[in-house]
Amino acid sequence: MQIFRENVNAFPALYLRGFRNLGGIQVNISASPESWLYFNMKIGNLDVSNPVLLAPMSGYTDSAFRQLCKEFGAGIVYTEFVSSEGIIRGSQKTHNYLRFERQEHPIGIQLFGYNPVSMAEAARYVEEHFKPDIIDLNFGCSVRKVVLKNAGAAVLKDLDLLEQITVSVVQAVQIPVTAKIRAGWNRQSIVALEAARILENTGIQALTIHPRTAADDYCHPAKWELIAKIKQSLAIPVIGNGDIETAADAIRMFQMTGCDAVMIGRAAIGNPWIFRQTQELLTGSEIVTTPSLPEQIAMCLRHIRLEQQYYPDEKVNQIMRKFYRAYVRDFPNASEIRHRLVRSNTLADTIAILKSIYRFGEQINDTECHRGHTEAHGKY
Ligand SMILES: Cc1cc2nc3c(=O)[nH]c(=O)nc-3n(C[C@H](O)[C@H](O)[C@H](O)COP(=O)(O)O)c2cc1C
Repeated sequence: MQIFRENVNAFPALYLRGFRNLGGIQVNISASPESWLYFNMKIGNLDVSNPVLLAPMSGYTDSAFRQLCKEFGAGIVYTEFVSSEGIIRGSQKTHNYLRFERQEHPIGIQLFGYNPVSMAEAARYVEEHFKPDIIDLNFGCSVRKVVLKNAGAAVLKDLDLLEQITVSVVQAVQIPVTAKIRAGWNRQSIVALEAARILENTGIQALTIHPRTAADDYCHPAKWELIAKIKQSLAIPVIGNGDIETAADAIRMFQMTGCDAVMIGRAAIGNPWIFRQTQELLTGSEIVTTPSLPEQIAMCLRHIRLEQQYYPDEKVNQIMRKFYRAYVRDFPNASEIRHRLVRSNTLADTIAILKSIYRFGEQINDTECHRGHTEAHGKY
């Protein structure tokens, strides 16, 4: 799927909106606009109809949230990273992370670990008992308790181990194996390109690159040029990730890097519309999905109802606290509303507050506040 490098001028809506800055990437203008409507990406034998994917995010991308993103067109959704050791031990908590609904397909289950044998065993178990479409290997997590066990991004410090883990998992399962990496362990060891070549040779079917090092925090901008460099060096699909805040950013990443798909993390939190908005731009339309304030609250209420299918109310209240800021951010008094919501002790109170805010949103009826017109998204 090379369309973005080749067909930018076939997409006048985007071009006119100022997408001339293509980061030095050459474009040709020969392709027809229709071609934008008929692309898809393949990961192994898996067809991905929308190359706009939901990133794995621990504490966020549970089944309820994934279902919402899927409804709005996310091409693939991923579980949060799941411990291979926990799977093998039969930990109930770990197994809960692996469950998903039929409507979530195509879905990737993401595994992390440091032991090639355990990783293969966990992957085999997951394939047999949960039947996801993809096993994704986490070589990017920088959380202390993970890297202290030499898993996640710590594997980037030992490319032999990276190879052993991946070979072992690729040989263990029939479904496509993919991997997600960072730029490297720290600025002194940027190994992404070398790691990418090794991973491709092991037989993985796609690679996601989040071009920050494990030592970088989110204040350091993701280096999209690294995605472009890796894309030019690999034959398998390359998925770009990092700092997409709006649908327009997603298009910019396609154009600047030539990546085959983009993966959206923080900007999807409380904002499942971003997948449809990106798809709208990709298919040559303006953004028409601009949820009103009441629609944003209605989505939050739906999210709560979906979570209630899996968790008791107390836990749902706890999970949802992380989402309120995003769901109410277009309200003029967003911070006050959020404080009321996070201070609420029971889910019943929370729902009552949301219903009153829904009515308030109807009264404001301020179309300028609609999401989709909002360019700046907060950081999480
Ligand atoms: C709260 C949170 C949890 C995350 N958990 C995971 C995870 O489980 N696995 C993973 O590969 N990346 C994880 N990430 C990283 C994201 O997948 C993504 O690479 C990163 O946020 C950059 O993308 P963004 O700018 O679109 O958010 C997490 C990020 C956040 C903010």
